[in-house]
Amino acid sequence: MCGIIAYLGEREAYPILVKGLERLEYRGYDSAGIAILKDNFIQLNKVVGKVNNLKSTTINGDIGISHTRWATHGIPNEANAHPHHNGDRSLFLVHNGIIENYVNLKKELIKRGYQFYSDTDTEVLTKLIDYHHKNSANQNTLKAIKNALHEVVGAYGLVLINKNEEKIYAARKGSPLVLGIGQREFFVASDPAAFLEHTRRALYLEDDDILEIDRKNFQVHNLHQDCDKLKRNVDHIKWNLSNIEKNGYEHFMLKEIHEQPDTLRNCLAGRIDMENHDSKFTDKLQPEFVKNLNKIIIASCGTSWHASLVIKHLIEKYSRIKVDVEYASEFRYKNPIINKNDLFVAISQSGETADTLAALKTAKENGLRCFGIVNVVGSSISREVDSGNYIRAGSEIGVASTKAFTGQVLCGILLMVHLGKIKGTITNQTAEKILNNLKNIPDLVKQTFEEEEKIKEIAKFVATKNNCFYLGRGLNIATALEGSLKLKEISYIHSEAFPAGELKHGPIALIEEGMPIIVIANKNEGIVYDKLLSNVQEVKSRKGKIIVIANDNDREIQDNVGEDSYVIRVPEVPDYLQAIINSVPLQLLSYYVAKERGCEIDQPRNLAKSVTVE
Ligand code: AGP
Ligand code: GLU
Repeated sequence: MCGIIAYLGEREAYPILVKGLERLEYRGYDSAGIAILKDNFIQLNKVVGKVNNLKSTTINGDIGISHTRWATHGIPNEANAHPHHNGDRSLFLVHNGIIENYVNLKKELIKRGYQFYSDTDTEVLTKLIDYHHKNSANQNTLKAIKNALHEVVGAYGLVLINKNEEKIYAARKGSPLVLGIGQREFFVASDPAAFLEHTRRALYLEDDDILEIDRKNFQVHNLHQDCDKLKRNVDHIKWNLSNIEKNGYEHFMLKEIHEQPDTLRNCLAGRIDMENHDSKFTDKLQPEFVKNLNKIIIASCGTSWHASLVIKHLIEKYSRIKVDVEYASEFRYKNPIINKNDLFVAISQSGETADTLAALKTAKENGLRCFGIVNVVGSSISREVDSGNYIRAGSEIGVASTKAFTGQVLCGILLMVHLGKIKGTITNQTAEKILNNLKNIPDLVKQTFEEEEKIKEIAKFVATKNNCFYLGRGLNIATALEGSLKLKEISYIHSEAFPAGELKHGPIALIEEGMPIIVIANKNEGIVYDKLLSNVQEVKSRKGKIIVIANDNDREIQDNVGEDSYVIRVPEVPDYLQAIINSVPLQLLSYYVAKERGCEIDQPRNLAKSVTVE
């Protein structure tokens, strides 16, 4: 996601926009730009890197649009930075979101004679509006925006200016936009933090709203109806600035946990191909290559390594391809067994982790085909691999990774489907079922938030302890490892995760009365579930305190674990969705335990968001 702020009023726009962008930099900061309208001419300044780089100049004028980018299509460079224009520079636009069908739209526009200077989907959107503008009666800008948006598939929060009109236009579908109403001045932004120092009067746009602002007034139109002037409430924002950059959340980590329905929806955007019962990749792994695949080697670190374990389990189970998961920090020193028909996969949120980058370079030196599952567009790892899939989770500020983990797992499921279809281990019918289930993920994750109050209470108990175990079986071993790492890194409680069956082979000696033992027990795991319940009894007989993650339709679990145990409910989902669904309550638990212990949650001691050293 990115940051947008636009201004129309009586003051110089440029400094207002720069300051507003600085308030939005948490949303994305790989490049930035401002376009200012004055005397029927629009002047543009775009920079790579931080918003601060915009301060080296200024442009006069009292109407302007601006953007700080978090790239999804096209690396972070000046050409790809926003605002984008229509060619003759009469229209300029900034955009937050993803135009899923931009490739087809771009092909059509090229046929109509358009040329492109960037790799972004946003430039395509700008030129699509221009096409309709030049081909509509009396070149009505509002009509052109409506006609263009009827052709668009995807999410957008966009703001547009036309050099011949002292107006601002904005439209919203899926990406937030809010109108700030000042004294003889208006603001449009992704987040009210950008204009809060100027006004607290805010009107939140809804999906399919199109806003038209002139010097005196504003009107809310609807994309699908011609009945204009929709009524919208004007709120009075009560938050103070320090909170609002986190959208009212106390910490970025909690905000990012709650963003997951949206980030997972973003990750899926344009990647489900129901027609061919397959998942779509920007750089598809070609059938010939996959059919000759020997094995897959995944190298990663930390949370990304846990996501790798989930992906290993799923690809081996459904695509029937051998997967080795390697600690990136070990890979290049172990003289790895490599076959020329191996696929190397690097998984990384930051795309800058030194260990993972070094492992990737070792794979490339051995001539392996390299694939990336990365969050930060244009990061080193994303540039080193032959192809890959961005997880599109947006900026992850909290050091403890949450939305990146679930996004990585989701990309792994998309990869699993694609590989299985080519290998013939996943039928069209199974693929269709999986892909339909993937569409439900945002709502299923939202359901897990219903347990948040209960988790807060359980956290009060866990926060009083110094040692904790996490247990799972099968796929849930990886999720137990991830839950344990979350707790460790932000609450500083010593925590370990084991395959539940391993407990009796030693670690059970550590169980003391009242020690929290978090157990992931999805009932649809069949025999594994029954074995897990036996492991729970082993713990209870040593007076450990059970906290179990269980399916919401599991009626026996409370009896099985005893009334004195805590039960956290999650929706029942197929095994390939369990890591995503089960990890959310574990993220919340670690967050509230750390909060209870008064820990510094977003920047835990000794840690860094991206470990760019070995
Ligand atoms: C996760 O909560 C940690 N911050 C850490 O383990 C992280 O996952 C690891 O450093 C790998 O980072 P990357 O995904 O950016 O490569
Ligand atoms: N998809 C657009 C781009 O990659 C917008 C990304 C964003 O929301 O920052 O430029």
